[in-house]
Amino acid sequence: MRMVDLIEKKRDGGELSTEEIHFIIDGYTKGDIPDYQMSAWAMAVFFQNMTQRERADLTMAMVNSGDTIDLSAIEGVKVDKHSTGGVGDTTTLVLAPLVAALDIPVAKMSGRGLGHTGGTIDKLEAIEGFHVEIDREEFVRLVNQDKIAVIGQTGNLTPADKKLYALRDVTGTVNSIPLIASSIMSKKIAAGSDAIVLDVKTGAGAFMKTVDDAKELAHAMVSIGNNVGRKTMAVISDMSQPLGLAIGNALEVKEAIDTLQGKGPKDLEELCLALGRQMVFLANKASSLEEAEEKLKEVIKNGKALEKFKEFIKNQGGNPDVVDHPENLPQAKYQIEVPAKEDGVVAEIVADEIGTAAMWLGAGRATKESEIDLAVGLMLNKKIGDSVKKGESLVTIHANRENVDDVIAKIYENIRISDHAEAPTLVYGIIT
Ligand code: URA
Ligand code: CA
Repeated sequence: MRMVDLIEKKRDGGELSTEEIHFIIDGYTKGDIPDYQMSAWAMAVFFQNMTQRERADLTMAMVNSGDTIDLSAIEGVKVDKHSTGGVGDTTTLVLAPLVAALDIPVAKMSGRGLGHTGGTIDKLEAIEGFHVEIDREEFVRLVNQDKIAVIGQTGNLTPADKKLYALRDVTGTVNSIPLIASSIMSKKIAAGSDAIVLDVKTGAGAFMKTVDDAKELAHAMVSIGNNVGRKTMAVISDMSQPLGLAIGNALEVKEAIDTLQGKGPKDLEELCLALGRQMVFLANKASSLEEAEEKLKEVIKNGKALEKFKEFIKNQGGNPDVVDHPENLPQAKYQIEVPAKEDGVVAEIVADEIGTAAMWLGAGRATKESEIDLAVGLMLNKKIGDSVKKGESLVTIHANRENVDDVIAKIYENIRISDHAEAPTLVYGIIT
């Protein structure tokens, strides 16, 4: 086989065979196929698309390019949740203990990564003593015993995706549905769960800016998952404004605790229930989505979800007292209010820009080397559709530096007040 022939075949709209796709991915991972040929191929895919079969083959070729995690020592149906990324997305912190409280195993492998705030692990490390440096045996033991554990990313997962994603980033080929869908799904499949619930975000703070694009991506990922034997469902959810009220690491831990007590922001609670009921259903713990939702509400109400969070913290070396005393989480030195300049209704809170403001305070990493400040971030006091009086606080800034003029200016630029506005739709659809 010659790579140039496969580039031409795709360029001319042909369908690549399973063997041809494996030849491309294996060759590229090993370094036999150079970047310039791989970029030409990615561009051909960008214009010519891939069939469902090709997408599934590409995904599995990337899964098989590296290590895969074997979770078979863990009893029960392992359901993973994945979000395509947003601002102030506190759902994982809530969902992990919430579904574990229903005896669904949560075997979470998580990363740190770049972004407006830290990843799930960074957020959990806001809890004194909490650590993810546990070995594989301990991880499996904890999940079997208490249904929940988080471990740092280990092993060489999907090296083909890593290499191809970096290449796409500099060759104008990121924005291709088959390439994005196979990239995300390869990582989820390599991580070993039996079923996958996807939260595909749409809006200013999301990768997919429109609902139609988000739906197309969701359909593509759900088809790949189901075609390779993993039950997969997706929720399309709003990311025009940040989710919940907290954007920051310790601030989001507090927000998760509130939500597990049934006192969280409404949108965060609603999305957690929408995702959670699919997880419960896929784990065969309910015969309908309605029944699944009832069960989730029950463990919030009777305190089991909160107890599970404490148990989880304790198991991984943290001090569970923070659940009852969230004031013991890291606190920023300064709290600065940002008052509304006029009366009206909040019409826009541009998610990605507000996320950037939180990052400027130190809540997230701009580069891999950046240090995160777990205490800092933003608390929204208003969301889209809320009315506001001149002088009322729109946002509380939690900072460890005295001068936050840059952050204040960014907030004013990205929160628009108007005469009339309504809260956006939170869930745009469910894809099965
Ligand atoms: N996120 C990924 O992991 N891969 C893509 O291709 C795009 C977004
Ligand atoms: Ca939040």
